[in-house]
Amino acid sequence: MKHLIGINDFSMDELAELIKVGQDISEHPKKYMDRMKGRVMATLFFEPSTRTKFSFEAAMLRLGGQVIGFSEVKNSSVAKGESLKDTVETVGCYSDLIVMRHPLEGAAKLATEVLDVPLINAGDGGHQHPTQTLTDLLTIYKEMGRVDNLNIALVGDLKYGRTVHSLVDAMSKYDNNTFFFVSPKELEMPEYIKNSLKGGCFFESTSLEEVLPKVDIVYMTRIQKERFDDLETYERLKGIYILDKEKMELAKEDAIILHPLPRVNEITEEVDRDPRAKYFPQAKNGMYIRMALILKLVEEAEKNPQRPVEEVYSTIYTKCPNPKCVSNHEYVESVAFHEKTAEDLAYSCEYCDKVITI
Ligand code: CP
Repeated sequence: MKHLIGINDFSMDELAELIKVGQDISEHPKKYMDRMKGRVMATLFFEPSTRTKFSFEAAMLRLGGQVIGFSEVKNSSVAKGESLKDTVETVGCYSDLIVMRHPLEGAAKLATEVLDVPLINAGDGGHQHPTQTLTDLLTIYKEMGRVDNLNIALVGDLKYGRTVHSLVDAMSKYDNNTFFFVSPKELEMPEYIKNSLKGGCFFESTSLEEVLPKVDIVYMTRIQKERFDDLETYERLKGIYILDKEKMELAKEDAIILHPLPRVNEITEEVDRDPRAKYFPQAKNGMYIRMALILKLVEEAEKNPQRPVEEVYSTIYTKCPNPKCVSNHEYVESVAFHEKTAEDLAYSCEYCDKVITI
């Protein structure tokens, strides 16, 4: 049985197949309308959502399945102090698939430890958001005709932005993609993501104007108030990058503008009328690719309930130094830090990927 915690849970072949099926569903939705008949999907949203929650629910309903779940913790026994593991193990008794969003980093990984049904990470704190990345890949493929040989600007909150972390993981698997990380110093891309780009195919800048003429894709993100411990810093940074009609003149004629949404003020509404603005088609693609993902995970779990064993090189056990790691908030017996490859000197937390060196 397979879960989706981070985008690296899928091989290149699996990503290509998902994109192909997602595109086919968007062209021939009726072909798929009974494929999940008799199955139940549970959506556990410990954090607010519009696109992810509704697109997953619409996806399951359009496949002929049914949906249960909560969007507010106060309506579940979590409000009485029930642990995350007990909650998901219970919901797993009633469903064939769980989709979960949680504010703590590594929460999705922790949840899989007690589950006999597949779990999809719909966002775990500032860590990963792999189904947004599948949405982005399908959109890039449909709009550009390829997912390689592209210059991609990622703009805004690169420190806490889980969508950009997952997108870099995915796009760096394809040939000749170059990243332009545009952020203020306080919100730079985390080291563990930059270290993973072993080819060094990235540039960092604080200037959106400098980067706009060079890129094929402009991926704007929101400065996320809910991730800041210090609101003064948020207030100082919140309007730092605003893509407006004037700045759009600097972008290439055939560039596309993406945004995982919701936006606050980082793209002005006048830009919506520009043919390069693709963020609402992107939101729609989220439903099609999630239909493809539900089919894949549920049908595979029914055929093969065993999870493949991961290759682990070397492991140490220690407390995670990341205060937002789920292991510092929920009961875990121990926290393993795995060497990613035989050559690495750094170890990363099994839950939140926080890197430590020894
Ligand atoms: N893109 C995204 O995750 O949007 P929601 O927070 O509305 O789900």
